[in-house]
Amino acid sequence: MVASPEGPVLILGATGRLGRALAKVYPRATRVGHELELTDEDAVRTAIEGIGPRLVYNCAALTDVDACEVEPERSMAVNGHAAGTVASACARCGATLIHISTDYVFAGDRKGYSEFDPPDPVNTYGRSKALGEMRVRSAGGDWRIVRTSRLFGPGENDFASQMRTRSLVKPYVPVIRDEWSRFTYIPELASRLPEVEWAPCGTYHLVNEGTVSWYGFARALIPNASPVAGGECRRRALRPRCSALLNTRLRPMRSWQEALSEYIRSEDEQVIR
Ligand SMILES: NC(=O)c1ccc[n+]([C@@H]2O[C@H](COP(=O)([O-])OP(=O)(O)OC[C@H]3O[C@@H](n4cnc5c(N)ncnc54)[C@H](OP(=O)(O)O)[C@@H]3O)[C@@H](O)[C@H]2O)c1
Repeated sequence: MVASPEGPVLILGATGRLGRALAKVYPRATRVGHELELTDEDAVRTAIEGIGPRLVYNCAALTDVDACEVEPERSMAVNGHAAGTVASACARCGATLIHISTDYVFAGDRKGYSEFDPPDPVNTYGRSKALGEMRVRSAGGDWRIVRTSRLFGPGENDFASQMRTRSLVKPYVPVIRDEWSRFTYIPELASRLPEVEWAPCGTYHLVNEGTVSWYGFARALIPNASPVAGGECRRRALRPRCSALLNTRLRPMRSWQEALSEYIRSEDEQVIR
């Protein structure tokens, strides 16, 4: 089927953090979770061409950075090659693709990265996402790549909620002080993504403004965060030191402090209810 302007919006990875938030922005969207295995090329082609979407969001990915280090082939298959399969299917049926990527495509050895800086990842997750970006660009369709970082949102099991939980049961919560990036509030990101459809084909950065370390963010959220060096933590994958994404192409999002205030209000309201 060829996409028509009235064709549906299709969300891949619809059961994930960002996918669920996007489904609220597009209540009539066709949502597809892991029941469609993205490494199954024929299944992906048949599903996308059968739906004939106008617009496809690819939010599906293996996002556990340390697990990707243990399973590099699977990581490359899902985050890399499958992204290309989705992009080719979109190109064939004339659908616009918005592919979600990450700050971890960068090594993190400078203060910030613009949309035009070349990827130079330091771990398997970053390499697999950088491969996905390459495959999307070379598929020949109408694509946008949107990089984002450190997602947090209400009701999620994420860094923010883990900090709050640990803070209640431990006297001190050790948090890494020497890795910086840009935290991004999921509902705000989801509400800003639709405008990317109308932007020219290319790569974009959508993150809350302001660079902060894991520790700096945690300290704004809990009273008993305790700074530690990343080198003291046992993790399989290397991490970029400062992978701050600079948004030079789109209207800026709010500061992370404003977004965090909204997050705290929203979480506290849930507790009161
Ligand atoms: N989370 C972050 O902090 C962060 C930071 C920067 C960029 N990003 C990017 O943002 C996007 C969304 O991230 P997220 O945090 O929303 O991810 P998430 O919560 O981990 O969700 C990932 C989604 O992908 C699905 N999926 C995984 N492997 C699949 C496969 N082989 N075939 C089909 N579906 C598969 C998952 O389904 P199952 O759970 O059922 O397997 C789930 O629906 C990703 O591209 C990620 O790289 C995320």
